[in-house]
Amino acid sequence: MKAAKPRHTRGMIIKENHPLGNLNTFGIEAYARGYVEVSTEESLRELLSDNEILGGSHLILGQGSNILFTDDYEGTIIRMMIKGREIVARKEGKIFLKVMAGEVWDDLVAYCVAQGWGGLENLSLIPGQVGSSPIQNIGAYGTELETHVVSLEAFDKQKGKVTVFSHDDCQFSYRNSFFKSSGKDRFIITSVTFKLDEEPVINTRYGSVAQELEKMGVSNPTISDVREVVCSIRRSKLPDPDVLGNAGSFFKNPVVSLKSYQDLKANYPELVAYPAGKDMKLAAGWLIDKAGWKGFRQGDAGVHDKQALVLVNLGKATGREILKLAYAIRNSVEKKFGVTLEPEVNIM
Ligand code: FAD
Ligand code: EPU
Repeated sequence: MKAAKPRHTRGMIIKENHPLGNLNTFGIEAYARGYVEVSTEESLRELLSDNEILGGSHLILGQGSNILFTDDYEGTIIRMMIKGREIVARKEGKIFLKVMAGEVWDDLVAYCVAQGWGGLENLSLIPGQVGSSPIQNIGAYGTELETHVVSLEAFDKQKGKVTVFSHDDCQFSYRNSFFKSSGKDRFIITSVTFKLDEEPVINTRYGSVAQELEKMGVSNPTISDVREVVCSIRRSKLPDPDVLGNAGSFFKNPVVSLKSYQDLKANYPELVAYPAGKDMKLAAGWLIDKAGWKGFRQGDAGVHDKQALVLVNLGKATGREILKLAYAIRNSVEKKFGVTLEPEVNIM
């Protein structure tokens, strides 16, 4: 598709044949048939009252850091740009902060750390927006988003109105929520309310966080220290999308029964795994690495040489080339270990 003239609906400009290369962290050069930015809840509501938009295919896009475009997008991309945050309550040492969906996730973490409000610091430097953060219940370095979500507001496209979801309504689990499963495509998250600690509780459960703090000689870490250490570990392991296209972990870490884990462990004593309730979560990066894929390259589609769970665009890879590589990896891991990997990235 080539860029063409924009059209208007309800006072908003819908650009036609819009390039997406700068709007997804894989850097895949695809086009969207229609592209519009929404910066208020009112304009989102207005836009979705246009039958052409509501009836046709459309996709909400945040920062495009968890998406793989395998083709041009034939519908309308609605870019979430609704900004703002406010304290809605303050009680018993907790701050209740309502944040609009279009805010940048790591700006929120930096702001909370600067205020001295604890809770989000282990989730430092994760790309993306606040509105996307509950979709897969983002997690890293010993914290999952759900621990700090009180409620969220989402526009229900079927009912044409905003619905409030409590924490439990969101059905959070590892890299999943109601919005990525049965509620997929029906709701647009417009704001999330977080519960933060005025007296932070420091979480250094994740091994490498504790080790790095020790190396720095910090024995009584602050949330600012934790943020610094998490940022430093992430920079050393994960490629910066501005330099090397990627979407973080391509697959989820597979959860298997204790029996399957024990059988695998008997054959591969160095297998890396963590308890997950009565089951075990295997390190997918270890499985892919052991299957021989680390640093592999086919054309411009590759496997990161420092972290085998991260697929990378080394230049001008297409989404289909990345997906072809992902399937080859999945088949090879299945054949070698009998474990099926499930993509974490949203494949379009
Ligand atoms: P997008 O990619 O734009 O969208 C993701 C999905 O959510 C799409 O299906 C989209 O339609 C939908 N969506 C977006 N906004 C809304 C909305 N407001 N309402 C309804 N649906 C919506 N993730 C982790 O959990 N932990 C990590 O440590 C981590 N590290 C990463 C490191 C790197 C280098 C990269 C590139 C990614 C990493 N990720 C990680 C994945 C990614 O950062 C998260 O999934 C993030 O929440 C995606 O946000 P986004 O705004 O880019 O979403
Ligand atoms: N490993 C290898 N080889 C590799 C990669 C990993 O052997 O090439 C082994 C290492 O032993 C390592 C273990 O796997 O100790 C786990 O690796 P790492 O600590 O890097 O974490 P991960 O399980 O690969 C998960 C998340 C990340 C998150 C980190 C830190 C998933 C799918 N991924 O990665 O999230 O940042 O833990 O908490 O759960 C993302 O979701 O996009 C993401 C980057």
